[in-house]
Amino acid sequence: MNYKIDVSTSIEELSEKFANILKQGTAESDSYFTVALSGGSTPKVIFNYLAENFKTKIDWNKIKFFWVDERCVTPDDTESNYGMTKKYFFDKIDIPGQNIFRIRGEDEPLQESERYSKIILENVSFKNKFPQFDLIVLGIGEDGHTASIFPGRLDLFDSNDICDTTEHPQTGQKRITLNGKVINNAKKVVFLVTGKSKKAINDIVLNRKDGFEKLPVAFICPIDGELIWMLDAEAVTFEM
Ligand code: 6PG
Repeated sequence: MNYKIDVSTSIEELSEKFANILKQGTAESDSYFTVALSGGSTPKVIFNYLAENFKTKIDWNKIKFFWVDERCVTPDDTESNYGMTKKYFFDKIDIPGQNIFRIRGEDEPLQESERYSKIILENVSFKNKFPQFDLIVLGIGEDGHTASIFPGRLDLFDSNDICDTTEHPQTGQKRITLNGKVINNAKKVVFLVTGKSKKAINDIVLNRKDGFEKLPVAFICPIDGELIWMLDAEAVTFEM
């Protein structure tokens, strides 16, 4: 796994760095900068920072936002990744609605997975036989999952489908997720990992401790793109 580790002293500093990745990518793109976002709680603070500090510093018209995964709930459900992003981010910036490609969590999962795959094929460039996002933003669960690829579903790194349906192992919540080959085909993959609760999983993965090789997060390995682990000081273990 060839990657860069970037440690920030605070989540604000991490957010500023992440915002500049978006700003630079958008400035360098001669068409649209395609970004797939993850959900969960980590992005909330980062999205809020973006909206408050980069509202006029990034040309949002040039970014097409997609999702790495979505919970199979309605968009107004507190569990919705789209709903969270809308609340903390999109409602506070001027971004055209046609640049936002949400996963319809309220629809039948398998049908939506197929529909969303077609949307990606129509709107994202194509390379190495798969869609190629400019930027994919991932989080990491304390069990080593990423996107909605949970332990025990490593088959989703062999699938040639763009998206698939999965279930949260504890709650049984149905999910739709990008598959591993699409994630690993991105030009740049960034993990945003903050807080004390992620110190243990970071230690296992980044210091290659026992069992890390079976965790989905260990299979994130862009075939020719860049991989950056963006951490705040609370999430870092001293061996890094
Ligand atoms: C999701 C995410 C998931 C998330 C990790 C970390 O839908 O939950 O896409 O992969 O990134 O579970 O979540 P937290 O940021 O809440 O710790």
